[in-house]
Amino acid sequence: MKHSAAAAHGQGRRRSLSSHVLVFSLVVFVFVLYSEDFSCIIIRPFHRRYRTEQQVDAEARVAAADKNGAAECDVFAGEWVYEPAARPLYAEEECPYIQPQLTCQAHGRPDSGYQHWRWQPSACSLPRFNATFMLEKLRGKRLMFIGDSLNRGQFTSMVCLLHRAIPDAAKSMQTFGSLTVFKAKDYDASIEFYWAPFLVESNSDDAVVHRITDRIARVGSIMKHARYWKGADIVVFNTYLWWMAGRKMKILRGPFGRETKNITEMATEDAYRLALRRTVKWVEESMDARRNRVVFVTMSPSHPSSKEWGGDPAGNCYNETAPIGEAGYWGSGTSKSMMRVAGDVLRRSRVPVTLLNITQLSEYRKDAHTQIYKKQWGPLSPAQLADPQSYADCIHWCLPGLPDTWNELLYAKIFFSMPKSQPRAFVV
Ligand SMILES: *[C@@H]1O[C@H](CO)[C@@H](O)[C@H](O)[C@H]1NC(C)=O
Ligand SMILES: *[C@@H]1O[C@H](CO)[C@@H](O)[C@H](O)[C@H]1NC(C)=O
Ligand SMILES: *[C@@H]1O[C@H](CO)[C@@H](O)[C@H](O)[C@H]1NC(C)=O
Ligand SMILES: *[C@@H]1O[C@H](CO)[C@@H](O)[C@H](O)[C@H]1NC(C)=O
Repeated sequence: MKHSAAAAHGQGRRRSLSSHVLVFSLVVFVFVLYSEDFSCIIIRPFHRRYRTEQQVDAEARVAAADKNGAAECDVFAGEWVYEPAARPLYAEEECPYIQPQLTCQAHGRPDSGYQHWRWQPSACSLPRFNATFMLEKLRGKRLMFIGDSLNRGQFTSMVCLLHRAIPDAAKSMQTFGSLTVFKAKDYDASIEFYWAPFLVESNSDDAVVHRITDRIARVGSIMKHARYWKGADIVVFNTYLWWMAGRKMKILRGPFGRETKNITEMATEDAYRLALRRTVKWVEESMDARRNRVVFVTMSPSHPSSKEWGGDPAGNCYNETAPIGEAGYWGSGTSKSMMRVAGDVLRRSRVPVTLLNITQLSEYRKDAHTQIYKKQWGPLSPAQLADPQSYADCIHWCLPGLPDTWNELLYAKIFFSMPKSQPRAFVV
């Protein structure tokens, strides 16, 4: 049984930002202003410094890689293959670290097909995920995921992929405010997650209480968070969803305080660009191209409206049990203009940023969201219960599930070179 979804680029339909408002209609928000007195960093245009020897070195390597680009396999172009014998890579009940918002089977999901798809790139095959190999590679190192709840899901997936290779007494999981740390003691390795949904400072930075409708970011200010990222060897960033509350984004020039004043509005793309530039500036100042790896995960799509894939005009991802088969499918929840901004800014980084371009392959996966099979934030009304679509979550993904594929791709990208002619024997 083969699901044909050869990825073709750029066939998607372009939609305006306003349609993204839809994405947020699921939840009830509580406004909590996160107070923080912190030194003010003003938004500055991208500032070019002198390049160090290492940077020149790194640039030469990137240029060489570009030249050989034709031989590199695009692991993000391919198709989903239904393979119950090979997937999932772990069982839901076997991984104690999955948040109850992502344990779909435990919350009554009737189907499990969403766990059984394997991503097959067109031009090569992915290396088999080997937890022991990865832990050896991480010996003495810190792998840190930084971003929002989608990145938290990817972090959890990574812990689930690795933890079976570690005896109970040799691992631990702890949360300190915005930072969650999983430790593999025998390897002196840690896999961490840091909550920063905008990467830069914002009023949504509280790791627990952050359901805020009126979002405000300080796009030039990152050190409040970044001081916790110091010493990480591999960083995996994401940021997208939280920007998409409207066409414009509220920007704060001064520090957050009891009275937050001087808020201006800016086109969402422009605000996103400034925040990503600030992130790249931190990367250039703090990461060493020879010793560190920097990865950016592109936008995770949502599936709020089934008419987009030719389904029920009033439906959403609820009840979906199979991926979308249309090659190049691109839904309205994913902004091409935001993607362009991310590409433009990150490609310019003098410490190379590896793009984990999971957007297209995830667009196909309308079946993989948590839907209604998760711990709910609050009690549901009889009207909601009678109409499950009204509270289906079409943003987050069940575990095991799609984020495991993101991690297989991360594993391939950071530890292997992926030539086009990878022998098929290397497959799962
Ligand atoms: C996994 O990696 C370890 C460490 O590199 C190696 O000893 C082992 O043979 C690998 N297992 C498989 C199935 O390839
Ligand atoms: C608001 O921010 C602008 C731009 O940074 C600045 O010029 C202005 O003086 C600020 N106004 C107040 C009342 O702080
Ligand atoms: C969802 O699936 C169930 C079982 O197949 C069916 O009874 C129900 O009508 C479906 N609901 C929607 C909104 O499609
Ligand atoms: C990611 O891939 C999609 C198509 O699969 C492409 O349109 C987009 O430009 C890529 N993003 C970046 C930043 O390169």
